[in-house]
Amino acid sequence: RSRVAILVSGRGSNMAALIDAAAEPSFPAEIIGVISNRPSAGALAIAERAGVATTVVDHKAFPSREAFDDALHAELVRLAPDVVCFAGFMRLLTAGFIERWEGRMLNIHPALLPSFKGLDTHARALEAGVKLHGCTVHLVTAEMDAGPIVAQAAAPVLDGDDEPTLAARVLALEHRLYPRALAMWARGEARLAGGRVRTDGRDGEPPAAL
Ligand code: GAR
Repeated sequence: RSRVAILVSGRGSNMAALIDAAAEPSFPAEIIGVISNRPSAGALAIAERAGVATTVVDHKAFPSREAFDDALHAELVRLAPDVVCFAGFMRLLTAGFIERWEGRMLNIHPALLPSFKGLDTHARALEAGVKLHGCTVHLVTAEMDAGPIVAQAAAPVLDGDDEPTLAARVLALEHRLYPRALAMWARGEARLAGGRVRTDGRDGEPPAAL
């Protein structure tokens, strides 16, 4: 099984979905540790209850981005993961850090990339009047929310939606998509080729698109 470390900053519902999926013996990855940059993250208690080792690398304790990233790197070297899953990890990382882990980092973003990179994706989707919204699992590269796409899932935007109703609909999809995308990645069913992720023979099937 692939060794997976999860980076979190907050609530941890996507982390919980990954931990739950990995509890199945047939899942091709195991969760070896959770690292939070915030000591107050709710994710930490959830991970501990599930018996997953947690560490805090508090960004406020470091004088610079580089110093924080070096500490995070050291913690990851200690865990020695094959894959690093960002799950609501809300820190931008330096190019130096990204270079050291590139090709091994996955992120989930609450929008259909390349639309709505960055924050407040649900409010911006409502403002734009899009009729389809969703979430994306992608490889992390130096450019924010722009790495090769592994898998996406779409949800309708309904006339009566506000930010909370739309966020909830997309979050439920995130919890299904991320474990499936990680499983594909861990099994080698999704892999980088020519700067894009290929999912050989699985086009149009879940989980590349839910
Ligand atoms: C999720 O919706 C995730 O997609 C998003 O933050 C939320 C975290 O919730 N991530 C980003 O916006 C990354 N820029 P969770 O902590 O319950 O998984």
